[in-house]
Amino acid sequence: MRDLRVRFGGLQAVDGATFDVGQGSMTALIGPNGAGKTTVFNLLTGFIRADSGVVRFAGHDIFRERPDRIARLGLVRTFQLTKVLSKMTVLDNVMLAAPDQPGARLDRAVFRRSWRTREDEVRAEALELLEEVGIATHAGAYAATLSGGQKKLLELARALMTRPRLVLLDEPMAGVNPTLGRRLLDYLGRLRAERGLTILFVEHDMETVMGASDDVIVMAEGAVISRGTPDHVRTDPRVIDAYLGAEPTHA
Ligand SMILES: Nc1ncnc2c1ncn2[C@@H]1O[C@H](COP(=O)(O)OP(=O)(O)O)[C@@H](O)[C@H]1O
Ligand SMILES: [Mg+2]
Repeated sequence: MRDLRVRFGGLQAVDGATFDVGQGSMTALIGPNGAGKTTVFNLLTGFIRADSGVVRFAGHDIFRERPDRIARLGLVRTFQLTKVLSKMTVLDNVMLAAPDQPGARLDRAVFRRSWRTREDEVRAEALELLEEVGIATHAGAYAATLSGGQKKLLELARALMTRPRLVLLDEPMAGVNPTLGRRLLDYLGRLRAERGLTILFVEHDMETVMGASDDVIVMAEGAVISRGTPDHVRTDPRVIDAYLGAEPTHA
């Protein structure tokens, strides 16, 4: 994305932000509260229309593109799929996110594989994902019965079920216990290694950021103020200033 801008009334929430995320990387997006991180995610995934700028993804111009088109290109964010369907089971929530792969349709036509077979495959994959994100024991429960942290994990499973190329995770560890959080990061690391999944995640805990990513983008007041290795950004005076000058967190 280049020189992305959006204004909400009198507030320039994103003010000429520019960065790129390399294919197959795991990049952390950090910055004080109100820096514009979530808004950037909204802009990239089409939930909010930017005023100006350039956004390209995997060779496509996706500036002001529709959210469903962007998702179909393989760019998804957890928030986009957040609306867990409360009156549906956890397992059904994940199964519903499965892409209707053209390959599956072709299989059915050519090899006369039954719909049932496809459904079994989807179920198996969904259960495996639930296992990986640590909520498999809740597969049969209504999504409404999950805790806040567990709902986040369900959202993650739903996002991954779409087989994205780039996943944007907005504070994925918030409300998740540290042991499970570490397991999640390991799992994301494996998806990255095995499938070439690209990950951009917002995270407040610096220790987590340091452990999980070798590339950090720092935003403040709607723009990117630093970029580099965790050690580089941690000692960058601009970053220290931005955090010191930030409003205290009210969350
Ligand atoms: N839909 C919106 N309408 C008006 N202001 C918004 C909206 N979304 C975010 N903002 C404001 O834009 C700024 C950036 O917010 P946000 O992107 O959520 O920051 P971050 O995720 O970095 O904490 C904040 O001042 C926030 O209050
Ligand atoms: Mg945010």
